[in-house]
Amino acid sequence: MSKVLKMAREDGRRFLILYGSQTGTAQEVAERIARDGERVHMACPVIAMDDYPVQNLLHENMIIFVCSTTGQGEEPDNMKNFWKFLLRKNLPPGSLSSTAFAVLGLGDSSYDRFNFAAKRLHRRLLQLGGSALCEVGLADEQHDLGQDFVIDPWLKNLWNILLARLPLPPNRKPLDPEVPLPSRFEVLSVENVRSVLGNDNSNQPEALSKGQPWSLSNPFHAQIKANTRVTAKSHFQDVRLITFDITNSEMIFRPGDVALVQPQNLEEDVEGFFSFFKLNRKKCFRLRPRNPECPLPLGLKVLLEKHKHGIISLEDVARHYFDLRSIPKRFFFELLSQLSKSPREKERLKEFTSAENQDERYAYANRPRRTLLEALQDFPESSSSLKLENLLDLIPGIKPRSFSIASSQKHQEGELQLLVAVVKFKSRLQKPRLGLCSNYLARAENGSVVPLWIKKGTLRFPSLKVEAGHSTTLPPVIMVGPGTGVAPFRAYLQEVIFSEVFRNRERPNFPKFLYFGCRNEKGDFYCQEEYEEMQKIDPEFKLRVAFSRDQEQKRYVQHLLREDAALVWDMVYRRGGWVYLAGNAKQMPKDVKAMMEEIFVREGGQDMADYLDVLEKEGRWQMETWS
Ligand SMILES: Cc1cc2nc3c(=O)[nH]c(=O)nc-3n(C[C@H](O)[C@H](O)[C@H](O)COP(=O)(O)OP(=O)(O)OC[C@H]3O[C@@H](n4cnc5c(N)ncnc54)[C@H](O)[C@@H]3O)c2cc1C
Ligand SMILES: Cc1cc2nc3c(=O)[nH]c(=O)nc-3n(C[C@H](O)[C@H](O)[C@H](O)COP(=O)(O)O)c2cc1C
Repeated sequence: MSKVLKMAREDGRRFLILYGSQTGTAQEVAERIARDGERVHMACPVIAMDDYPVQNLLHENMIIFVCSTTGQGEEPDNMKNFWKFLLRKNLPPGSLSSTAFAVLGLGDSSYDRFNFAAKRLHRRLLQLGGSALCEVGLADEQHDLGQDFVIDPWLKNLWNILLARLPLPPNRKPLDPEVPLPSRFEVLSVENVRSVLGNDNSNQPEALSKGQPWSLSNPFHAQIKANTRVTAKSHFQDVRLITFDITNSEMIFRPGDVALVQPQNLEEDVEGFFSFFKLNRKKCFRLRPRNPECPLPLGLKVLLEKHKHGIISLEDVARHYFDLRSIPKRFFFELLSQLSKSPREKERLKEFTSAENQDERYAYANRPRRTLLEALQDFPESSSSLKLENLLDLIPGIKPRSFSIASSQKHQEGELQLLVAVVKFKSRLQKPRLGLCSNYLARAENGSVVPLWIKKGTLRFPSLKVEAGHSTTLPPVIMVGPGTGVAPFRAYLQEVIFSEVFRNRERPNFPKFLYFGCRNEKGDFYCQEEYEEMQKIDPEFKLRVAFSRDQEQKRYVQHLLREDAALVWDMVYRRGGWVYLAGNAKQMPKDVKAMMEEIFVREGGQDMADYLDVLEKEGRWQMETWS
């Protein structure tokens, strides 16, 4: 532990930072607060809410919470248990009466439930008697200058409050902002692996899955059975239907559930990293956190645990941990400028770190989607002298990606399928931009293994009960799933139409409508034959497809809904139907929602303007959208 942290602890100048983060942004902000704290001689452990021993909570004097919102207004996975604990009925109202807190929320106002997790957390902490240091901060990704537009002034205000409560001791000055803090990591070099491992010097990661429950720290290694391009070769978009063998995994999933995939870096990035850094890729080492109160990032912990004696090589880290394709954030430029020994590069890097120059940083990094590896290469004099611990501080870990499961376990036993749109696009930079996980999956060959696990999705379908040889009837189901948004609906349709459950039994009789959207019939109308087969078996299944580019006027799913307005109204209002929407969250969810509202007013009158809210409360309007 550094001298600063030791002294801060002795002085009692300590507060706790807890974060809830789905894709790492809130975690990075939490870590930034801790670094700012260290500069004013405060000890601030940073811990994911679910990693924090919650029984200690009542003894904390001051806590700063940073949390994002995910799904449709949900808490991130790594704060779910903590949140459940806070909601316990047996927690007395004054439980947190000696705790001061502040909540910073990260969200995106294009989602209906903007910053819900942070707002709820703030309210609940107040209910439990906590005293708020300041208003809840609500950062918005939609702002032109990104979330920093809210985060910067919110933090400035917070630091004024914190320093008034925990002033600097008279004999101490804040640390020079130009000087880097000691690394968060201690790298323990292992010169001779054989001396540690004895004769057994195989240091390969264990690819064996240990058994349920599957998670990031214990993923199931699923073998690829088939990886088929389902769009025409000539079509601009490569979409894959990937079949995984999950026999012996004991995984159970239902339509609407989601698979998480932990990708690894693309080969060209691993090679690009080593050819730029000229480091010995076989160099072996162990790692531990400099501050024992702050655990290692989960991705690193998992990597260490997979290797014998926790010894890993630089190549392991470059391949499995460093997120070389992520967009460099402000902290990256800040730390690189502090570490830089090149006056020219240092100046430019510093420019990117100031709040006034956010737009320049956006123009350099975010808009063209420049990768972190490219940014390191753009500042060669600064990057070339970096040590391993600097790289560990600079480069965040690769995050898992979610995919709606596209198959039904009841139909395709022992298998799990994903429909993956491969992300590849042009920016003003010369090389095409490649999404990490979708390209990792697209390149995975049959027989290769992919670490994955399952989590409950937000979509819930009306439940099917099969009793004594006949099944109950169900309300109508309307599913709107353009592009790969169709994945959860394919799973549901397989389950209720193809499933073996109905062999020798009466199939439930209820209308099912699928509104699918794609560019052209010949290019990307994937799974067409399967839907035709479904229609043959089940006359109550209706497929409507909007081909956006097969005619002069663009035609999307919402246009089909408008054409079917009377039918939609009948199914939903008169027959108690359920409506679902899934897919890419750009303009589509807004347009579909607006169309549903228009239909309800047109068919039911002005009184029905808020009918979608009613449906949502009843769980009959559900969305799963992603950006
Ligand atoms: C609940 C859930 C379910 C999902 N289900 C599916 C599914 O069934 N199928 C599926 O394919 N995906 C699905 N996704 C999305 C998936 O998780 C990944 O986000 C997606 O595969 C891209 O990941 P990547 O690693 O390839 O790209 P990344 O390396 O993460 O890069 C993606 C980034 O590139 C940006 N981007 C993409 N295209 C462009 C463009 N043309 N111009 C500018 N920027 C662009 C995006 O905004 C995004 O920020 C789902 C997501 C969630 C949250
Ligand atoms: C799949 C998905 C769902 C999201 N849902 C919401 C939401 O319901 N409300 C909101 O305010 N922001 C939502 N967001 C935006 C995130 O909260 C925002 O991007 C945040 O910066 C992510 O932080 P994290 O990386 O720490 O999870 C969502 C983002 C994604 C990718």
